[in-house]
Amino acid sequence: MNISVYYSSITGNTRKLAAYVSEELRLAGYDVELLESLDAVKKRNICEQEPDVTILAFWCRRSGLDDLSAELLSRWTGRKIIGIGTIGGNVKGSYGERVRENVIKEIEQENACLGVGICQGSVDLKRIERRRHLPKESKHYVSPEKYRRVLRTQGHPDQEDLDSMVSFALKILRDLHTC
Ligand SMILES: Cc1cc2nc3c(=O)[nH]c(=O)nc-3n(C[C@H](O)[C@H](O)[C@H](O)COP(=O)(O)O)c2cc1C
Repeated sequence: MNISVYYSSITGNTRKLAAYVSEELRLAGYDVELLESLDAVKKRNICEQEPDVTILAFWCRRSGLDDLSAELLSRWTGRKIIGIGTIGGNVKGSYGERVRENVIKEIEQENACLGVGICQGSVDLKRIERRRHLPKESKHYVSPEKYRRVLRTQGHPDQEDLDSMVSFALKILRDLHTC
């Protein structure tokens, strides 16, 4: 089975996730190609035959896909796609569930979604710093409590996050074999 893994990443979290998952899937015997979504959108160095399975590695923006991943997805039809993503918000609980549901809907528009898994990514502190000093009434204000949560995201995705995404993808791929 051949698999193309496309990743979009600004600060490196999703690149790390995509590279790790690709390597582990290769070790598990799959034929894996790792590609940058940006290159694919600009059609640089992309000579891809349609793969058996596409993995779309995205970062979360506005509780859904980042723009580059959404752009790439809009060019595909009829693919079997697994989404794996890093998010700054809380993975567990209702927020994480909402992100997963949004991404599943986006993929299902023209393609078959085999599943979407998300893990914690580090939030860029530079991006948050300015928002700590906004008026408290501003919807972008980051309170001390919120800032403490952001600090706890640092260092993610960690080994446990990466391994959980590998297990997630492997389970889907093995289930495909047995279908
Ligand atoms: C412009 C921007 C918008 C973001 N919006 C969200 C969001 O709506 N929800 C969320 O959970 N994380 C959000 N994040 C956090 C990123 O999804 C998270 O830090 C991710 O791991 C970044 O991945 P990367 O390092 O591969 O770029 C946002 C980050 C940026 C830069």
